[in-house]
Amino acid sequence: MKRIAIFASGNGSNFQAIVDAVKTGELKAEISLLVSDKPEAYCVKRAEKENIPCFTFDPKRFKNKEVYEKMILKKLEEYNIDFIALAGYMRLVGPTLLNPFEGRIVNIHPSLLPNFPGKDAIGQALAAGVSKTGVTVHYVDEGMDTGQVIEQRSVEVVDGETHDSLQQKIQKIEHQLYPFVLNKLLNT
Ligand code: GAR
Repeated sequence: MKRIAIFASGNGSNFQAIVDAVKTGELKAEISLLVSDKPEAYCVKRAEKENIPCFTFDPKRFKNKEVYEKMILKKLEEYNIDFIALAGYMRLVGPTLLNPFEGRIVNIHPSLLPNFPGKDAIGQALAAGVSKTGVTVHYVDEGMDTGQVIEQRSVEVVDGETHDSLQQKIQKIEHQLYPFVLNKLLNT
């Protein structure tokens, strides 16, 4: 069974969806570690409730990304991690982690990339007035949401759509798509 580390910074609803998919058997993998740059975030509480080991750190306390990523890498080695899934981890990943995990680190993003990379992709789509946006799972490289696309699903933007309503539709898709793609990548 492959051992996954999930990186998250916020609510952790994708983290939860992945954990739940492991419980139902839809995703054959072990969620071995949560890594979070926000020790107070709700994703950390979710991991505690699920008895999943958690590694949190405050990036402000380190000289630079290389220093804290070296520390993360040690943890990943300690937990024998095979694969990394970013799930709302709001930081660029540097070469310290990318090089040893090349081809084994993916991200989920709430738009049809290359459209609307970066922060608040949902707000960006609404501001642009598009009639269709969506979800992308992609490999991670050093850029901002620029790695090779693995899977995409589109979501219609209807008249009167709000940030909340669009986010709900997008997250519903994310929660199905991410476990499905992870299972495909890890088990086929
Ligand atoms: C998700 O919608 C994810 O696609 C997005 O953050 C949200 C995290 O929600 N990620 C990005 O925007 C990455 N650029 P969650 O904490 O409830 O899983």
